[in-house]
Amino acid sequence: MKPFVQVRSLQKQYTPPDGVFAVGKSGGVNFEIYEGEIFSLLGPNGAGKTTCISMMSTLLSPTGGDIVIGGYSVIQSPVQAKQQIGVVPQELALYPTLSARQNLEFFGRMYGLGGKELRKRADEVLELIDLLDRADDKIEEYSGGMKRRVNIGIGLMHRPKMVFLDEPTVAIDPHSRRRILDTVKQLNEEGMTVLYTTHHMEEAQELSHRIAIIDYGEIIAMGSLGELIQRVGEKDTLIFKVGEVPPEVLERINALELVDHVISKPESGELHVVSPRGRKILPELIRLLTENGTGLYSVEVQEPNLEAVFLSLTGRGLRE
Ligand SMILES: Nc1ncnc2c1ncn2[C@@H]1O[C@H](COP(=O)(O)OP(=O)(O)OP(=O)(O)O)[C@@H](O)[C@H]1O
Ligand SMILES: [Mg+2]
Repeated sequence: MKPFVQVRSLQKQYTPPDGVFAVGKSGGVNFEIYEGEIFSLLGPNGAGKTTCISMMSTLLSPTGGDIVIGGYSVIQSPVQAKQQIGVVPQELALYPTLSARQNLEFFGRMYGLGGKELRKRADEVLELIDLLDRADDKIEEYSGGMKRRVNIGIGLMHRPKMVFLDEPTVAIDPHSRRRILDTVKQLNEEGMTVLYTTHHMEEAQELSHRIAIIDYGEIIAMGSLGELIQRVGEKDTLIFKVGEVPPEVLERINALELVDHVISKPESGELHVVSPRGRKILPELIRLLTENGTGLYSVEVQEPNLEAVFLSLTGRGLRE
């Protein structure tokens, strides 16, 4: 696979020598984004996601290291590097008294589009973000989700090879979020390379080919979802709602080869069984729990997820 973006020993300290070291304090951050992939930076508030994206978009100068985009260094050739990418900032950057079409055309002109080409591209983008029918209404009359979609559209006007999306689903309703996630997938299916930042592990999990987990300005783990989960050896948790479980049944469950450990929670009527192969041992466990007269009311299989990976790496949840 060919890297489209190479981030090398990247560091940012706001107002050195005493300011906040937002990215790469211990030696600098390194990662690559391959052509055609969706790469996510996942991390809690203040982790350094926007600082990274701003440096990658040439809006902010690194205090150390470099970023090469499509062969151009953001330090040596910032203009060419910037042309390779479309940037969708976390904060909305729209003119409220202009329509969606006028906003798209305004930003398209800044990228050198004009005439028929500009109008055609605005129509294509309006179709992609599903706002053709409202294209001539003013932005100030739009809902939050619609504004977010125009914000994305602006980043796409000049047909970049890659788009950077900084938390594009923050503070919007589930329906708008769904549309944005689907648009990102569609863009990627059409060949666009995507850098996506979020603090929602569900989004990173659904969209990404690879994920970098960022915390306090450092990348603490990187890989596909499967690789990340494997690295920390996370296991499935089977949650049974049960009646009283006799001690000998607990012992037999504990003795099963595929059972890692068992946590009995009589106060909530739950039995948690942790296993590397939850679905495989589920029938056996159901048999053991039912044949001994234990009431079994429900079962839920919790597969390992990014939240568990983050917890295991940092000792805290992503939302704490
Ligand atoms: N202009 C600035 N001057 C000084 N410190 C800053 C500035 N911008 C950000 N920081 C600090 O840098 C750190 C990283 O902030 P950043 O905005 O990159 O995080 P983030 O991961 O994008 O968070 P969020 O999910 O809240 O958007 C924080 O400690 C923040 O306070
Ligand atoms: Mg941010």
